[in-house]
Amino acid sequence: MGDVVVFFRCLANNMEAAVRSTRGCDSEQDSDSDNDFETSQLGTKEYWEDAYQKELETFKDIGDVGEIWFGEESMNRVLRWMDNAKIPEDAAILDIGTGNGAFLVEMAKHGYKNLTGIDYSPASVELAKSVLQAEGLTHVDVKELDFCHGGLEGYDLCVDKGTFDAISLNPDNTGGVKRLYVQALKASLKDQGLFSITSCNWTKEQLLERFKEGFEFVQELPTPTFQFGGKKGNSVTALIFKRIR
Ligand SMILES: C[S@@+](CC[C@H](N)C(=O)[O-])C[C@H]1O[C@@H](n2cnc3c(N)ncnc32)[C@H](O)[C@@H]1O
Repeated sequence: MGDVVVFFRCLANNMEAAVRSTRGCDSEQDSDSDNDFETSQLGTKEYWEDAYQKELETFKDIGDVGEIWFGEESMNRVLRWMDNAKIPEDAAILDIGTGNGAFLVEMAKHGYKNLTGIDYSPASVELAKSVLQAEGLTHVDVKELDFCHGGLEGYDLCVDKGTFDAISLNPDNTGGVKRLYVQALKASLKDQGLFSITSCNWTKEQLLERFKEGFEFVQELPTPTFQFGGKKGNSVTALIFKRIR
């Protein structure tokens, strides 16, 4: 229920961002600011820990894995791109902010063998491990880690579905969490490694600005569109970047 509210909030943010962008306010000044959106509890570890504690209890009770962020299609869209891009089955793949691990499950079922999920919420990690175990996918590694603190390297592909969105809402922006995220991503990826981001808070233009240094834009994955204030926009943005050194 709360997640539905989050989704509509995301949609509203994206509409607002789309309008800002079409007005030409989506400038360097904006993208470099750490105050692009109002901050929210959704950007805190406490919020996610509480959410995944509840989802973990539900999973233990009735086996329901919980929310699939942005729906099943958001996973299928990236999986189709992975097929088309011929990502090898043994590619080292990192799911940033894995939540309930549902995307790890889908990638493992698709044949990917070298999968790691990280999340800073201990309850998320326990839930993702439980979900993977229930599917018999015990070879998938899930670790508790704050991505913005870095420490990862050697990945061929990093996937993010909703995590940069959550990080962007962090009320404690004193450390420039979005910049820390970009630094950690740069370190995590091998040269020419790929990054898939699915976001409901940021437009394509804003993401291109955010990931312009050290990355090359590869392609946009088609997502549903909406009309707002006479302008066309996307409720979700899905982009692929390549790490360049
Ligand atoms: C919107 S949820 C998306 C979860 C998952 N990617 C999905 O698609 O279902 C955001 C996730 O990011 C995680 N997260 C937020 N900030 C993080 C950080 N700094 N390091 C690691 N995980 C983080 C949250 O715990 C939560 O699981």
